[in-house]
Parts: sequence; structure tokens; C-alpha cells
Amino acid sequence: MSASAQIKRITVPELAARKGKEPVSMLTAYTVSVARQLDPHVDCLLVGDSLGMVLYGLDSTLAVTLDMMIAHGAAVVRGSSRACVVVDLPWASYQESPQQAFRNAARVLAETGCAAVKLEGGREMAETIEFLVRRGVPVMGHIGLTPQAVNALGGYKARGRSDAEQEKILDDARAVAEAGAFSVVIEGVVEPLARKITESVPIVTIGIGASAACDGQVLVSDDMFGLFSGFTPKFVKRYAEIGQTMAEAARAYAEDVRARRFPAAEHTFAERKPA
Ligand code: KIV
Repeated sequence: MSASAQIKRITVPELAARKGKEPVSMLTAYTVSVARQLDPHVDCLLVGDSLGMVLYGLDSTLAVTLDMMIAHGAAVVRGSSRACVVVDLPWASYQESPQQAFRNAARVLAETGCAAVKLEGGREMAETIEFLVRRGVPVMGHIGLTPQAVNALGGYKARGRSDAEQEKILDDARAVAEAGAFSVVIEGVVEPLARKITESVPIVTIGIGASAACDGQVLVSDDMFGLFSGFTPKFVKRYAEIGQTMAEAARAYAEDVRARRFPAAEHTFAERKPA
């Protein structure tokens, strides 16, 4: 038996059972090499459509395609053996109808080997979530600040500051839970609302910019590694400065090349004379 065959992946029911227990840790991953580094440490790897902005330099997540998600999802599954892998359904791949959502979610599960899909939206997506769950597709919801709705929301500002907005987002959480999602990401909402949602729904809430009141946390890994050179939101804690380390390594390499210090003898194939 290979080493990887001995490691059991964390399953969707195991994650679902963590409600109110040990907090769930989730990070985004988009590539084999990053998945390999994160896999031993976190419960869940999210192949988020944030890859459009983080990896591809797009202005929003709207131009991310299903094929991009499948290619990166499959890479993350290949690079991991322990964490539960969840892949985002991208914009316009599920909003049209439950049938469209099933067709595309089925492709994501079959072609990546991931355990679940994540989709954005509240009560308006409840019918679709129920349709998927009844057909064997585990669904993670995503409410609050939903980046695919950037045009409708008018930007990426924190949500839930008014009573009306709080009521709407709480109702979204209830609808997503009743529809059968096993977990829900709550993004960019004020702390009292995150707490109220977490106390009100029987499913695991995973916060990003939604306080410590949630049942788990997720961050975009490039943000917390200091690798993404764009705007860093207030809720991100920088655990490393990998971008700076890479830039310093590139500078040292270029200087070595210019000074003919690289490659040195130990990096060079010597001629082997026949005996
Ligand atoms: O796409 C993503 O990375 C996400 C997280 C921000 C939760 O949805």
C-alpha cells in the first residue's frame, strides 16, 4: 500500500459534524505545490474562484470559467491526500437553473475528484442547493459579501451594517441550511450578525472577515502568505512575507548570473572520461 493510500481524507460528514466543536480551518489552494504544503495542516482546501484575481490578475472573479476551476481543482486534489477539497462553481455556471448547476457540479466532482462544491447566494439559490444535495452533490454555501455579485452590491464593502441587511443575510443563512448545504461561508459581515447566524443554523459556518464567532475560518492563502501584491483587507493576518522572500531570491540569482557566480562547479556536469 502506498503512503498516500494510508492517509484518510477528511470527509464532508466529518466536517459537518464539527458544528460547535473544534473550529474548522480552511485555506485556498490553486496549485499542486501549494496544496502539498497546506494539506497536512488544514481541514479543508478551497479551490476558490478568487484564483481569477490572485493567479490571473483579473479585476473580479466574473471571468473565471468552469474549465479553469476544473484544471485547478484537479491539481489541488492531486497535491493533497488528507484535506477535504471543495471547488467553487464560477459565475454563470449555476445561476440559470438547478439543472445547469447539476450538470456543471457533476463535471467538477467527476473531473477533479473533489468532495464538494461551493456556490454563492442565499434564499434565491435554495432551490438549486436542494436540487444538488438530493442528487448527491455536497454543497457549501457562501453568503454575506458574495464577490460574484460585485456589480449588484456596488463593491466589496462589509455587509450587515443596517437592520434590514442583517435580517436579509440571516434569512439567507437559514434558507441555505434548510436547503441542505453542509456548511456555509460567511464573508465580510459584522461580528454580531456572524454570531447570530452561527447560533441560528445547525450547519458549520466558516468566516472570512466575519469574526471569531464562526465555527471555522478561511483565508485566501496568498493574502496570509504575503504573496498577493494587491490590496490586503483588514481581516487578513499576514503569517509570512513569501513575496518579499521570492523577490530577494530573484535579485540574488540575477546578481549571481551577472557576476558569473551561478552556475558554480557543483551545478555543472563535468565531462566523464571513458576508463
Ligand atoms: O474564492 C474564494 O477564495 C472564496 C473565499 C474568499 C471564501 O470564496
